[in-house]
Amino acid sequence: MKRKTLTQYLVEQQRAEHALGSEVRLLIEIVSRACKTISHAVSKGALGGVLGSLESENVQGEVQKKLDVISNEVLLEANEWGGHLAAMASEEMETIHLIPNRYPKGEFLLLFDPLDGSSNIDINVSIGTIFSVLRAPASASGREITEEDFLQPGSTQVVAGYAIYGPQTMLVLTIGQGVMGFTLDREMGSWLLTHENMTIPADTKEFAINMSNMRHWAPPVRRYIDECLAGKTGVRGKDFNTRWIAAMVADVHRLITRGGIFMYPWDAREPGKPGKLRLMYEANPMSMLVEQAGGASTDGTQRILDIQPTSLHQRVGVVLGSKNEVELVTRYHHEASKSA
Ligand code: AHG
Ligand code: MN
Ligand code: MN
Repeated sequence: MKRKTLTQYLVEQQRAEHALGSEVRLLIEIVSRACKTISHAVSKGALGGVLGSLESENVQGEVQKKLDVISNEVLLEANEWGGHLAAMASEEMETIHLIPNRYPKGEFLLLFDPLDGSSNIDINVSIGTIFSVLRAPASASGREITEEDFLQPGSTQVVAGYAIYGPQTMLVLTIGQGVMGFTLDREMGSWLLTHENMTIPADTKEFAINMSNMRHWAPPVRRYIDECLAGKTGVRGKDFNTRWIAAMVADVHRLITRGGIFMYPWDAREPGKPGKLRLMYEANPMSMLVEQAGGASTDGTQRILDIQPTSLHQRVGVVLGSKNEVELVTRYHHEASKSA
């Protein structure tokens, strides 16, 4: 069977009615090439000397793993010279990264979580890269890009995607025309379209949440999970199953493939923090993918893609996946705030 390559898919999209721009096409090609390089480093493991931690901490106060830093550098280097970007931002960098003056500048902004699921690196379990593309505001033309230029709601994203480094390496992508999954053919070095128009079933029996935080959850989250746990004899009338991979990429890949609900909600461990996951380079791109696949995504009360960001590294509660389940959890939050 002759499969379509990523390049073929992108060229077709360029010629389609909604015409993908050539800068965006180049951008996706370059990001996907960087993900190939990261995939190669990941697969070497101990043989490549890429496992383990560094002495450093990132801006979120998390110890950096070697692969966090390697992946960040691969993405920066790959994307600097193409002329398609105005600036980049990453989980691993406190502030934005401007395109050096020796290179031409483009009109797009690239944000990424270079290595998602860091705690899985050393145990040979799936990890990934998440990315999001925004258009630089028109008002920024002719001047230097600032952090404020990045603070756009997720609904304005032009492209969102992730690469998953698992038993296979895959690239899952949306340009706002559905969700396409490409598998890396390691011998040929090319991405082949293997999963066309990925869709999330509206119902599911599978939920993903870190249960060890149960005692810190808000009442609506407790209510929802309690009802799932009650199974067949409870109000839901069916048994549920739990999965938690501790890498958002892997958990979201599962639910984009066969349905499910994923939650990393606000909890009372650090009440001042809205959640653990980062809005701009984790929750937003994943929410765009999930919505494009027919699912839903909220922070418990509102659609994540509608949130107006106020800072680059801001955190957010996340409830996403199968539509009917996400709507139920969101309804429980609204009911709780009404009765309060
Ligand atoms: P990162 O490795 O980029 O810091 O992200 C890890 C995130 C996310 O991928 C995952 O769902 C979650 O942290 C796991 O958190 P717990 O260790 O609290 O389960
Ligand atoms: Mn992450
Ligand atoms: Mn990360």
